Amino acid sequence: MAVHWNKTCKMNIDLANEIKDGLSSSPKTLPSKYFYDEKGSALFSAIMQLPEYYLTNAELEIFTSKSKILIENLNLKKENYFELIELGAGDGYKTIEFLKALTQEAFNFSYSPIDISYQALKQIEQTVLKVLPDIKLQLQQGDYFKTLQELKKSSQPKIVMFLGSNLGNMQDEIAHNFLKQLSFNLSIKDKLILGIDLKKNADIITPAYNDSQGITRDFNLNLLVRINKELEANFNIEQFEHTPSYDEKEGIAISSILSKSKQSVYIKAINQTFYFDKDEKIFTEISRKYDDYILQKICKNTGFHIIHKTTDKKSYFADYILEKKE
Ligand SMILES: C[S@@+](CC[C@H](N)C(=O)[O-])C[C@H]1O[C@@H](n2cnc3c(N)ncnc32)[C@H](O)[C@@H]1O
Repeated sequence: MAVHWNKTCKMNIDLANEIKDGLSSSPKTLPSKYFYDEKGSALFSAIMQLPEYYLTNAELEIFTSKSKILIENLNLKKENYFELIELGAGDGYKTIEFLKALTQEAFNFSYSPIDISYQALKQIEQTVLKVLPDIKLQLQQGDYFKTLQELKKSSQPKIVMFLGSNLGNMQDEIAHNFLKQLSFNLSIKDKLILGIDLKKNADIITPAYNDSQGITRDFNLNLLVRINKELEANFNIEQFEHTPSYDEKEGIAISSILSKSKQSVYIKAINQTFYFDKDEKIFTEISRKYDDYILQKICKNTGFHIIHKTTDKKSYFADYILEKKE
């Protein structure tokens, strides 16, 4: 077993700057990547277990029942070593099924999860080593937008995984630029396994972002708790409310936090006061739902071409394989 950690320590400076920018913009926004402190990562793991959060079970079904099909379509050769890199890996709950399938078939690879959350990586380290103690594991903490160019440092063949519809947290134009940048840092024939949530009836989508136990509410509001803790702010959490919505025409779920009253919040770390009107919203995350047409449009001129698509039985979720071709 070989485990390596690669960590970044400038997180609080980035957090302060990005929170300042987001709360100074109109409408106000907060970056969703900061959901995942210790509490946020634990809450997200709890969300993944919720009956309403169909995304996890649907993608888990793909990895438990169709890993072999995915492997065949990746066109891997057992004698050739490759790097498996996962962006925004979370707790690795679903990936472990894929790792088990690769190991059972005796493929020669290393696994490198990259995540902004230290907690998520600690969880992955534990889970993966418990099941696959001999795996070559390289953990990297950081923002995947900023680590893509590091992929170029190695000339080994690469399979990148981007699961859980993480891509859907980006506006389409940002998603397009992200894929373009990713492809630029890969070599011809490298592949991307891209897990995305498919368009479907609003009755199925809406509860996934507003569960009956209030865990998604706690997850969203925990961002304010984190800012209070790490940037010495004085958000009165009781005065804010989790307000999810779903734009059925566009196929986009929107998470936001509503200010219940006219109020101000002081953030000591940036020495600034922010003012909120009654019913003003802070936008925290979008979760885009896709179909083949939308994905093809986003992939156009990124260097990636779709070569395979696998869905769960209900066709709620899809894992696509994209190949770098040019
Ligand atoms: C919605 S969870 C999905 C986790 C996992 N991919 C899955 O399918 O279960 C998003 C994960 O991506 C990480 N993340 C979000 N934005 C990130 C960024 N810009 N750079 C690195 N990690 C990020 C979060 O810390 C979290 O663990």
